Amino acid sequence: MSLAFLACAFGGTAVAADEIKGSAEAAREKVSMCIGCHGIPGYRASFPEVYSVPMIAGQNQEYLVVALKAYASGERTHPTMDAISKSLSEQDIADLAAYYSNLK
Ligand code: HEC
Repeated sequence: MSLAFLACAFGGTAVAADEIKGSAEAAREKVSMCIGCHGIPGYRASFPEVYSVPMIAGQNQEYLVVALKAYASGERTHPTMDAISKSLSEQDIADLAAYYSNLK
């Protein structure tokens, strides 16, 4: 157990990145916070101003991960997505990306 942990800790970034595997199954419990906006084709949210919500279903998995991390890091900004992405763990992001990339 502790040996395995050490191996991970010193495994470098390539290993760390490989460890997080998205599970579309696990995401089913997490998407409830996304479907209000992203579940409806052509949906427009009206707070704090009217804006259209991009379709993320069927989007490339890598792209979704990068987009969510960009909001979390502040590289990309949007009032609601900033707040949401900051509340997600790396595992959540991986799961959600797996889920949405498999939605058609
Ligand atoms: C309150 C409405 C709302 C909620 C809830 C919401 N989003 Fe978003 N999301 C948006 C809007 C609006 C944008 C476009 C923002 C922009 O222009 O950068 C966006 C953008 C995105 C993008 C980037 C899409 C692209 O084409 O670049 C991803 C990925 C995303 N959201 C994922 C999620 C996930 C996953 C959740 C749930 C954890 C979620 N969103 C919850 C409104 C929402």
